[in-house]
Amino acid sequence: MIGQRIQWINRCASTNDVARELAMAGEDEGTVVIAEEQTGGKGRKGRRWYSPKKKGLYASVILRPSKSDVSLIPLLAGLAVRESILETIGVEVRLKWPNDLTWQGQKLGGILCESGFLGNRLSFVILGIGLNINHKLEDFLPEIRPFATSLKIIRKENIALDDLLPRLWQALDDWYALLMEGHGRKIVDSFLEYSALSLGKEITVVTDKRTFPGIFAGIDANGGLILEEKGRKKTFFSAEIETVKYP
Ligand code: BTN
Repeated sequence: MIGQRIQWINRCASTNDVARELAMAGEDEGTVVIAEEQTGGKGRKGRRWYSPKKKGLYASVILRPSKSDVSLIPLLAGLAVRESILETIGVEVRLKWPNDLTWQGQKLGGILCESGFLGNRLSFVILGIGLNINHKLEDFLPEIRPFATSLKIIRKENIALDDLLPRLWQALDDWYALLMEGHGRKIVDSFLEYSALSLGKEITVVTDKRTFPGIFAGIDANGGLILEEKGRKKTFFSAEIETVKYP
């Protein structure tokens, strides 16, 4: 059960790193690490996840999937976060492929999954969730202020996590069970239903190497983004993407 054991920490570099250490020492699936503050919070593509004290949720979950295809875990995590925020706080989060949680185009949080292997066998996945909870605008770094928001900014009141967290663990458990039972298509379809990018809309995929303009044509069974450009389809995976821009 996800969230059955929660390790609360005042401050650490990154909850993903603490969870990885625990997993390597044999910790069970479902254990969660939550920190009040991170001094070296990690974002996707080696970016920093600025994590001021008691402003955000900085959480990492240890998973030990029985299947090696784990590419849909970031997508199902987004769905679980969306569902739990909607049900306990009443805010409608949209999911921007590959791992952004957004509200009216502003970034509300993100997901960072990291895998651990024993030889060539997948041993664990660390599912990191960063959510902007009680940030005021000035609590964000100046360069991200134009693009960021928090639940407090949206709801115009302080947000308590007492209801959200148990609901989040339950939702993660349910969506993760779907994946393990082979219902990946349901995860992809639900992700598309709540996607910030609409099917058929013009987008631009920016990779490390170049920029690809085209039409958002779906998400494949492995969680890859399908871009249609002049009638030809090309699939992109999270690791190669810098960003996806849309009007
Ligand atoms: C992103 O949008 O780039 C992903 C951000 C993920 C941040 C979370 S906070 C908890 C966990 N620990 C980390 O160091 N990163 C993730």
